[in-house]
Amino acid sequence: MKTKILLIIAVLYIFTSACSKEDATGTDKQLYDMALVTNGFTWYKNSESYLPKSQGSGHNQAFLRTRYNDLAATQLDSNGKVNPDAVFPNGSLIVKELYNSDKTLDQYAILYKQSNHIDADANGWVWGYVSASGKVAEPAEKKGQACTSCHLQTGHIDYLLMNKYFP
Ligand code: HEC
Repeated sequence: MKTKILLIIAVLYIFTSACSKEDATGTDKQLYDMALVTNGFTWYKNSESYLPKSQGSGHNQAFLRTRYNDLAATQLDSNGKVNPDAVFPNGSLIVKELYNSDKTLDQYAILYKQSNHIDADANGWVWGYVSASGKVAEPAEKKGQACTSCHLQTGHIDYLLMNKYFP
């Protein structure tokens, strides 16, 4: 009986904490709004096809697509891959769209270069992680705490990993 009650409490806790995710405000909202704009971007390798997640991916979703705004696209070669010596200028926005196995959009993982931004890390990147409906998965004010160690692995280019996992 006691375990049953504990189980119910645990389930309720998981349920309520999953539902109480915050709507994006501040920097998270800024990044979310920028991610919602889809025109004027270049797709990685100039292709909008859904890529199956890589072995190294820090995200659970089955598919992904990555796009670069005009400023970020200055660091792509003619095949839409990131130049090996790329250093992204301020204003660069890179959006990784994360899709469930049925290809519904689930989350945005966002990198925004703006070295004087209040939430920029030491290399000038602001890290965003929001759901498709605008709920915060990882607050930008944490400055990519959950992201940077993985993104600084051997083979990154200015923190970026698409070239390494989708050569
Ligand atoms: C365990 C490793 C890992 C963690 C943690 C991780 N990522 Fe990634 N990320 C990757 C890999 C690998 C790729 C290349 C595409 C793929 O396979 O998903 C990638 C790609 C990206 C891209 C596309 C640009 C590029 O070329 O790198 C963005 C944007 C991104 N991640 C944002 C984030 C954010 C924001 C976080 C933290 C909330 C995060 N990532 C945490 C491994 C990780």
